[in-house]
Amino acid sequence: RQAQPAILALFGATGDLAKRKLIPALYDLHRKGALPRPFLILGLGRKPVSDADFAAQAGAALARFGAGGEELRDVEPFTRLFRYQQLDPADSQAYAALAERMATLWEESRMETRNALFYLALPPSLYAPTADGLHAVGLADQSDGWRRMIVEKPFGEDLASGVALNRNLLERFEERQIYRIDHYLGKETVQNILALRFANAIFEPVWNRSHISHLEVTAAETIGVEDRGGYFDGAGILRDMVQNHLLQVLATVTMEPPVAFDAAAVRNETAKVLQSLRPITAENIHEHVVRGQYLSANVRGDDLAAYRDEGGVAPESRTETFVAIRAHIDNWRWGGIPIYIRSGKRLPTRVTEVAVHFRQPPHQFFQRADGAAPGANRLIIRIQPDEGILVEFGLKTPAAGFQIQNVGMDFHYSDLGESPIPSAYERLLLDGLLGDATLFARSDAVEWGWRFVQPILDAWATDPEIPLYGYPAGTWGPPETKTLFKEGGEFRYPCR
Ligand code: BG6
Repeated sequence: RQAQPAILALFGATGDLAKRKLIPALYDLHRKGALPRPFLILGLGRKPVSDADFAAQAGAALARFGAGGEELRDVEPFTRLFRYQQLDPADSQAYAALAERMATLWEESRMETRNALFYLALPPSLYAPTADGLHAVGLADQSDGWRRMIVEKPFGEDLASGVALNRNLLERFEERQIYRIDHYLGKETVQNILALRFANAIFEPVWNRSHISHLEVTAAETIGVEDRGGYFDGAGILRDMVQNHLLQVLATVTMEPPVAFDAAAVRNETAKVLQSLRPITAENIHEHVVRGQYLSANVRGDDLAAYRDEGGVAPESRTETFVAIRAHIDNWRWGGIPIYIRSGKRLPTRVTEVAVHFRQPPHQFFQRADGAAPGANRLIIRIQPDEGILVEFGLKTPAAGFQIQNVGMDFHYSDLGESPIPSAYERLLLDGLLGDATLFARSDAVEWGWRFVQPILDAWATDPEIPLYGYPAGTWGPPETKTLFKEGGEFRYPCR
């Protein structure tokens, strides 16, 4: 499918996201011939920059962040797509000039329909004013071409502000015009969860509480908060990673089969399963949630600072950099089995994965070499790095006797070919241009995500008795995490 001619109006065009992610992703699309023709990228920002200077900046951003180490080709035809217009998105008077400029560009480049994709690479406080500004000058109106808007998380900072943000945007744009990026949905391996489940017949029959004992969803990072301490200290890992990315991943693993692979059908199932998450209460939070904050440590020769000593972080901060949750999905498929969700900064390794643990055989007469019961079957979906899928099962150890050892069938995406996995932004920008919202978060799913995390945030804010455990940088978070596993066991890659 080829996207129709359009202008991509990029708010925050001289900012970090544009340079690091968006311009390289657009370049990759350009190189693959996936961008529409004609196509223009209109940078918007408060700084006065000429068209030529913006094109040069885009070229410089590419040289620095683009092509994933590959040689840059055809940069000049790509940078020829760039234009720039000075605009302060908070100034409601500024949008008339934008509408005029866009009208000129549509005409000059002979675009028959006046299509536009507005990418708001802006602080979330500017989303509503920008939607207002665009709407006021007719740029939300779809009578002479499609008009779409891409926004990125955070979608609010709690349930109330998340709902208010949706309401504000929906006053100006329709739901089908709003594309909320959750870059985890743009990851190939997250999409492949849907393929694994629904393109095959062997997994789905056992994909339920009768055959699965529990699920784990982990997103571990080795990095700390880096230069984002100011933002992160007001957010914490529950808002930063769980409310959005990990709940979307969880929904992909647990949703019912959609009736079709389209935006409405897939997102209906996402919303339904997120709605089924059992709320955690102030009374039972102790059994369901463990939070932690990293302490200084020397990791492989590097002295790593404690979270509280990071730039932008309050010296007495109680913001969590680690959270582990024992969740439940109250529906027929998953009722009664625990679902463990974990995310943290400064953990020992960078890994995002889903582990599906199957039940033990109903009658067990084999033994493992070390005398333990043979491990149950597991299916590990490695989202990153080393993208792949691993199935673990027991087989007889070669030799006399009948002892069982666990073996694995391991598929690596890298075996599929040389071509690098496209970046999430590449995929999502293209889908935005094509008008396919399947991999974008719908307003109801965002709100269900907030409904799940809000009681946890409230309990933390009001109950000083809820511990915030320290954990040394480079460890798997607080050992107390293990207490969530009431039936025994612990997270894969156990806490040390
Ligand atoms: C972002 C969070 O949304 O996702 C960051 O704000 C986090 O804190 C990042 O580091 C992780 O994304 P990825 O793609 O590197 O796993």
